[in-house]
Amino acid sequence: MPEKIKILMVCLGNICRSPLAHGILESKLDPTKYKIDSAGTGDYHIGKLPDPRSIATAQKHGLNITNQRAQQFKTAHFDEFDHIFVMDQSNYQNVIKLANNELHENKVKLILNEISPNSDSEVPDPYYGGDQGFENVYQMLDEACNKIAARI
Ligand code: 4NP
Repeated sequence: MPEKIKILMVCLGNICRSPLAHGILESKLDPTKYKIDSAGTGDYHIGKLPDPRSIATAQKHGLNITNQRAQQFKTAHFDEFDHIFVMDQSNYQNVIKLANNELHENKVKLILNEISPNSDSEVPDPYYGGDQGFENVYQMLDEACNKIAARI
């Protein structure tokens, strides 16, 4: 059995955006061939469930993400994962700071560049907004994950 391809989704808190990205991509790929996980660059929410608004938005689209628990991104993740998708420029800078070499750095990509290459657009942080912000994030991530699943 060949090794699984491993993909990590990263945001700040690992409770709003990356848990949605994790659940969405996982639903589009064969679990015997791919391992998907998520992490946050911050340590505020380690061990917590995704935000209730992310859980509700996922549920609305038929996805259950309540098995997820927040973890913090660590340098060791660069060796464990083949692809690391970040939500915004701040996540990108925080992740790159922990890279030890160019191989590590080359694994990190802004997720929306999968839809519009080189646009460097960001998945907005929905934490302080309303429910519509979470649906908006879901739609962006669903489109990006369709591209990733088709290509990977
Ligand atoms: P996320 O959203 O990075 O999409 O999980 C956030 C959640 C919590 C905080 C920031 C962003 N926070 O500062 O607590």
